[in-house]
Amino acid sequence: MSNSDFALFMGQLLKKPHQVVALAPSSRFLCAEMVAGLDPDGGPVIELGAGTGNITRAILGAGIAPENCHSIEMNPEFCDRLRARFPRLNVHHMSAGDIGHLPVDNAQAVISGLPLLSMPTELQRAILTGFTRRVTPGGSYVQFTYGPKPPVARAVRDELGLEWRRSGKIWWNMPPARVYRFSQPVSVPA
Ligand SMILES: C[S@@+](CC[C@H](N)C(=O)[O-])C[C@H]1O[C@@H](n2cnc3c(N)ncnc32)[C@H](O)[C@@H]1O
Repeated sequence: MSNSDFALFMGQLLKKPHQVVALAPSSRFLCAEMVAGLDPDGGPVIELGAGTGNITRAILGAGIAPENCHSIEMNPEFCDRLRARFPRLNVHHMSAGDIGHLPVDNAQAVISGLPLLSMPTELQRAILTGFTRRVTPGGSYVQFTYGPKPPVARAVRDELGLEWRRSGKIWWNMPPARVYRFSQPVSVPA
């Protein structure tokens, strides 16, 4: 990450601490875990809370074409940086709460850098319900967290029947983090 990205991130953290909610951008070790399993031929990827683009870069590095990646970010200065850095990327300046209205079908995964745990349950519900509408059956919602618990409120997990897998702790990140992969069980036709 460049010095100018770091400065932009820190500047926005000071201006909008409740939106950025991280001490530093995700490390390359965390980014690698976030994008593990993406399939270059598996359909579109939706990214939430792209920030200065560390996870975006890893998504593209995993072989996803920029035209097939849709990055949602509510901070206009981060959006400008993303557009300058990744000209063919689809950058959507909007709230992740509106993901249900994104004109993208059959996404293979949603990769989220959002501060989900600090969001109200109602917003989490809108985001996770939108996820279930935009992904193909069996698609994942991938989310990192610094805390010990699953980063989606229990009420939302229960309502949507979400199952999850959790990575080991990624120590080379500030602070150390884990990655959760949520999905809905795929129903088998009788
Ligand atoms: C913890 S930073 C993560 C940045 C980057 N993805 C990374 O991992 O380094 C959280 C990002 O989520 C964005 N964000 C917060 N709330 C959001 C919302 N409701 N909709 C879209 N983006 C949001 C912030 O502007 C910020 O860029």
